[in-house]
Parts: sequence; C-alpha cells; structure tokens
Amino acid sequence: MLRSILRSSTSNASRRGFASGASPERKVAILGAAGGIGQPLSLLMKLNPLVSRLALYDIAGTPGVAADVSHINTGSEVVGYMGDENLGKALEGSDVVIIPAGVPRKPGMTRDDLFNINAGIVKSLCTAIAKYCPNALVNMISNPVNSTVPIAAEVFKMAGTYDEKRLFGVTTLDVVRAKTFYAGKAKVNVAEVNVPVVGGHAGITILPLFSQATPKANLSDDEIVALTKRTQDGGTEVVEAKAGKGSATLSMAYAGAVFADACLKGLNGAPDVVECSFVQSTVTELPFFASKVRIGKNGVEEVLGLGALSDFEKEGLEKLKPELKASIEKGIKFAHQN
Ligand code: NAD
Ligand code: LMR
Repeated sequence: MLRSILRSSTSNASRRGFASGASPERKVAILGAAGGIGQPLSLLMKLNPLVSRLALYDIAGTPGVAADVSHINTGSEVVGYMGDENLGKALEGSDVVIIPAGVPRKPGMTRDDLFNINAGIVKSLCTAIAKYCPNALVNMISNPVNSTVPIAAEVFKMAGTYDEKRLFGVTTLDVVRAKTFYAGKAKVNVAEVNVPVVGGHAGITILPLFSQATPKANLSDDEIVALTKRTQDGGTEVVEAKAGKGSATLSMAYAGAVFADACLKGLNGAPDVVECSFVQSTVTELPFFASKVRIGKNGVEEVLGLGALSDFEKEGLEKLKPELKASIEKGIKFAHQN
C-alpha cells in the first residue's frame, strides 16, 4: 500500500498515509487547506475516524500540509493537491467538500467587504464541484456566507446539479460562541449547553435564540441583550484582537470539524443528527435561512422551524431580514453576471 502511494506521488499531488479499512469509506476534500482555517481543520479531520480519505487542496502549500498531517497515526489516507490542474483529482469521489478558501477580514472591514474577491473563488470552486463530485455535501465556510451559499446554489443550478439538500452554509461557529458565552454568564456546564442560532452569518443577521437555551437560567433582559450582541460581534472581536492578522481560524476549524462530522454521521445513517446551518429554506419568506436542520443519508432531511421566540427575538428576526435578503440577492446576481 505504502509503495503504491509513494509511486503515485508527483510534485503537485503528494499522496501519503494508510487507508483505515474502516467502513463505510468516506472521502472529505478541504478546499483552502493550507490557510489559517484549512490547516487546523485538516488536522481535526485527520483525527475523525469517519474519514477514510482526506484530500487537501489549495493554490499553494498543500504538499507540506499533507506531509505533516499524514504522519498522524490515524487510519485515513491524506493526499495533497496543489494548483487548478489538480482540483478535479482532489474532488473526485468526495462525499463531503469543505470550503474555507478565500480572504479573511482585517479590522474595520465587514464580511461583505470580502465579496469582491471571495465570490469569484467560490464560483470557480463550485463549478469544479458540479463537474467532479456533484453528489457531495458542500460545507461553505468562505465569507460572506450569506452570499457565497446563494452563489453556490446558482452555480449548481446552471450546471444542472443543484440539490438543495446538499448545500450548507457553516454557521456552527455562531452556535459554538453562543454556547460558550451563555455558559459563562449562566454559570452552567458548557458541555451541557444548547443554543439555536438562526438567520445568517454576519452582524445582526446572526440571531441566537437564548430564550430556547438549555439548561435554563434566569438571565435578565440586559444580560440577554449583551449576550446577543457579543454573539453577533464574535467574529469582529477576534478580528480586532488579531489586529490585521486575519479572523477566527482555530475556533472556526473546531466548528467546521463539528459540522463536517455531523454531515458524515448523517450520511452514515446515524439518527437524530441536528445542527444549525444556513440552507435553502421556507422557514421565513427568504430563500435561504439558518435554522436547525436534521441531516441524514441524503443531506438535509428536514429544515426545522424556529420554535417559540421571545419579543426581543421576534424584533431581531424582522430587523435582520432586509440585510439578509440583500446579501442573498447580491450572491444570486453575481453568479449570473460573472
Ligand atoms: P486564509 O487567508 O488564512 O486562508 C485562505 C486559504 O484559501 C489560503 O491558503 C489561500 O491560498 C486559499 N485560497 C485562495 N484562493 C483559493 C482557490 N481558488 N482555491 C483554493 N484555495 C484558495 O483565510 P482563513 O482565515 O482561513 O479564512 C478563510 C475564509 O473563511 C475567509 O473568507 C473567512 O472570512 C472565512 N471564515 C468563515 C467563518 C464562518 O463562520 N463561516 C469563520 C471564520 C472565517
Ligand atoms: C467569524 O465569525 O469569525 C467569521 O465569519 C470571520 C469574520 O470575518 O468574522
């Protein structure tokens, strides 16, 4: 096995590691694998026993990342792919494709300021996904998620491969933050906390539903307002702390790994796999919306409703709609004009 792996290595496609023999075999591709998120996410996916093949793709740097990650003594085989000419090979046979490719924010920028660069990157990567692995579950991390997911949907529609059950905007970091901040304020065990976060993934479009948080805690209205704002501004908090050196990478890699693991479990038929995600939706009048979704063998099995909202959350929901609508429309327009 090792000899055949080494024989097939080239300067731009380095294949290393051992197949696990575990079943079912699952291939995960990470596009943008050499980046700030991509590297720790590659590490975490190498640790995931549900992964049998890990394809690490980037425009530069993947042979080194793949060599490094491949030395970890878990069962999956790691292959690094570099450059456009190797993208098809990276994608072929993938069950899950995770996309953290693109530029991150610097202080003073909004996620929408990333649109001009990242929209084109996402469009070209999704064009390749439609060609090489149209049935994969796509986990979109690249910002602005509120626009990149609609771009992906339009690209897949134009290619004739769109299946709304297979496209996910990754909003798990909002949930991770809401859980952490809530546990700190409510003084409860963070491992037991659940908080749905709905809407989108930018500023006020991020709507944590602390009225539904468990375990229940008696927080004041002011505390709920502060927790909501901190969750909405969580990304900016990290961008400012990193002072020009990018945005959340480590917590995002964790969140991305949690979400990809849920996708793999769903594909493998595990029952009751529920995560929040930004998906095609009829929960509101907007065509895409983040809410709890049940993930199964075909991707999204069920988009769950919002449940009972507090008056504060109802107000937040109405306030976020115009911004989210505009971001969705911007993505759709871009996909058709460029
Ligand atoms: P980064 O600059 O450290 O890494 C991005 C990587 O993408 C680089 O390695 C780069 O070479 C690669 N890349 C660029 N063009 C590519 C292409 N055409 N094909 C493949 N790879 C390509 O950035 P980062 O900190 O890892 O952030 C990546 C993206 O994730 C940003 O858009 C950021 O805003 C977003 N993000 C999203 C969330 C979320 O919650 N969804 C959280 C954090 C960051
Ligand atoms: C985050 O929420 O951390 C990401 O969307 C990155 C950012 O720009 O804030």
